[in-house]
Amino acid sequence: MNTEKKQKRYQRFYTQIEGLIEKSSNNPISNMSTIAAVLHYKIEYFFWTGFYLLQDGNLQVGPYQGALACINLEKDKGVCWAAINQNKTIVVPNVHEFPNHIACDSRSMSEIVVPIRNENNEIIGVMDVDSSSLNSFDEVDAQWLEKISALI
Ligand code: SME
Repeated sequence: MNTEKKQKRYQRFYTQIEGLIEKSSNNPISNMSTIAAVLHYKIEYFFWTGFYLLQDGNLQVGPYQGALACINLEKDKGVCWAAINQNKTIVVPNVHEFPNHIACDSRSMSEIVVPIRNENNEIIGVMDVDSSSLNSFDEVDAQWLEKISALI
């Protein structure tokens, strides 16, 4: 898909999610559930779409759509912890080349992880999306998933 078409699709999903969240919820868990459901069923390469949340220093699964996932992620291992520790979005074109990648499902091939923050700009967890193809995510996904995460 070309970049312009992808941008326009994300713009539509953003507007839809913004409308859903604004109308009905100031509850972060409800907002995350809504975001996961909208994106997972609209974007065909989203194989697993969800959130991991920091809880007493652990990273535990939050709302998600897709195959059964790990409940806890071992500290400082894998892509989700890397995004938290480096305080930035991480795009992984091939998960098998990422040191200490945590494979919750062997069908995952590429991945993007976006830190999510509270109103004081502190990281409270991550949005994590997996694809069953290599090289699924790029700068456009990063830009829009960051924007969508800011709605939480
Ligand atoms: N692959 C992630 C773990 C979560 S699953 O992708 C759902 C990681 O390495 O942190």
